[in-house]
Amino acid sequence: MTLSPEPSRASTGAQDVEFRIRENEDQARWDRLFDNEKPVEVEIGCGKGRFLINSAMAYPEINYIGIERALRYFRIMKERVVRRDLANVRLLRDDAVYFVERFIPDGAVSAYHIYFPDPWPKKRHRKRRLFNTRFLEEIERTLAAGGTLDFATDYVEYFEEIQSLLEASDRLDVLGEIPERVRELGRDLTNFETKYTAEGRAIHRGAYVKP
Ligand SMILES: C[S@@+](CC[C@H](N)C(=O)[O-])C[C@H]1O[C@@H](n2cnc3c(N)ncnc32)[C@H](O)[C@@H]1O
Repeated sequence: MTLSPEPSRASTGAQDVEFRIRENEDQARWDRLFDNEKPVEVEIGCGKGRFLINSAMAYPEINYIGIERALRYFRIMKERVVRRDLANVRLLRDDAVYFVERFIPDGAVSAYHIYFPDPWPKKRHRKRRLFNTRFLEEIERTLAAGGTLDFATDYVEYFEEIQSLLEASDRLDVLGEIPERVRELGRDLTNFETKYTAEGRAIHRGAYVKP
């Protein structure tokens, strides 16, 4: 794989946390990106990285890829990852949809985590939503057998839409409970979850598994 480590490393120089993608590159090879063959989980839209970092610290036997396209959030997350010297984390500042579609091989991901995706509540903006039929096909394609998709949102209409899309595709089974590794991290998994819980908003969670 030629996915490239980011040349301007964080000043600690601890590791090549950030990688970049270029159009003419091959599909991702996790063994080259991480220099080991541990299972890989992907978080899409990680914001400031609370879930990713807590997971990576709790489960060093898992590799984590965090994808966040907003530079402001990405910088905060990267600085936190570098400060903790987390060898099992790699970060990409890019569009996750493009990365998944173009670079992730079939069956290469053990779990996807997607927490509080932008709801785009205005009708004319709905097409900007992350979850749609095509994106779910890519999630299904790239999950390993037994791999999980875990998501949460405070926006009930979006939650129901995601559930309908998953039911229509019929390629993932309802898991019935939050995946164990996520459950054991406890409550307030992400910055948005903390904020919304404090505001008393209901949180809707979904967990699915590839048979
Ligand atoms: C509402 S925030 C939630 C952040 C975090 N998951 C949390 O719960 O605290 C949604 C995040 O997803 C990011 N995002 C949305 N679409 C994305 C995409 N296609 N690729 C990468 N990041 C994306 C946004 O930049 C934003 O930071």
